[in-house]
Amino acid sequence: MLDRVRTPNSNIEVTPTASGFGAVVTGLDLSKPLANGVMDEVRQAWADHGVLSFPDQPLSLDQLEAVTLQFGPFGVDPFIAPMPGRPNVLELRREPDEKATNFGAGWHSDWSFQPAPPAATLLHGQVIPPVGGDTLFADCTGAYAALSPVMREMLAPLRAIHSAGRAYGTKGVFARETEKRTMQIIVSEEADKTHTHPLVRTHLVTGEKALFVSPVYTLGIEGMTPAESQAILGFLFAHMTQEAFVFRHRWAKDTLLIWDNRRTIHLAEGGYDGHLRVMHRTTVAGEVPV
Ligand code: SIN
Repeated sequence: MLDRVRTPNSNIEVTPTASGFGAVVTGLDLSKPLANGVMDEVRQAWADHGVLSFPDQPLSLDQLEAVTLQFGPFGVDPFIAPMPGRPNVLELRREPDEKATNFGAGWHSDWSFQPAPPAATLLHGQVIPPVGGDTLFADCTGAYAALSPVMREMLAPLRAIHSAGRAYGTKGVFARETEKRTMQIIVSEEADKTHTHPLVRTHLVTGEKALFVSPVYTLGIEGMTPAESQAILGFLFAHMTQEAFVFRHRWAKDTLLIWDNRRTIHLAEGGYDGHLRVMHRTTVAGEVPV
């Protein structure tokens, strides 16, 4: 981490990582509505760093919903049963004796198969295992910027094919699994639908370009053969998830994390068999990628 940054008139402290991708934000209380000026600073920090972590923020479910709504309206979460009486909150729960692979174990940008995928996801740490369970983020803006001009030009007109099928489809990972899972996954034919998005998207706020593909939800590239798609996507997936572009978040109870699905992909690490892990998750609606 670099030094904390508090500009003379600022209300919050933002401590970026050395690369600038990901930052810790302190000096504010998320259990109460943030004043407009503070919210503007948070939004700016989020635009600058892509992933923000707010430590020591005990939040009730009502407060988590209220923080989420300060960023925008709720997104739509398909294929997972929400918490009872909380249609916009998912509980990501894995019991100590669970053998099924942990939820979110492959690189993805949340619900990228939707016509307008969520701009943000918020995740609040409830029960944190003593080992494992980190969340990793890859900087898809930095990864795009590091490509050669020739590669960027080649990718510019391409559209990627996204689908939830590999995960939630009738022949997907969840349909095939035999181990007990606490989270209620809703396998559906709906998941096998596909939707195309620009392979390189431009961020609505920053104007920066980012690779918008992931191994979990991107099936191919429009107009290309499977072999051609696989060659290009395989290269991009390896490129995006190099250590140079990855930020590892280690959890503590009551930390709130918000990430920008328009410029990051993420992966939930396992490694905590024998321990309970519980998170509360919400999403903020996004726009049609361009
Ligand atoms: C996810 O939202 O993909 C899971 C993240 C996590 O549990 O760390």
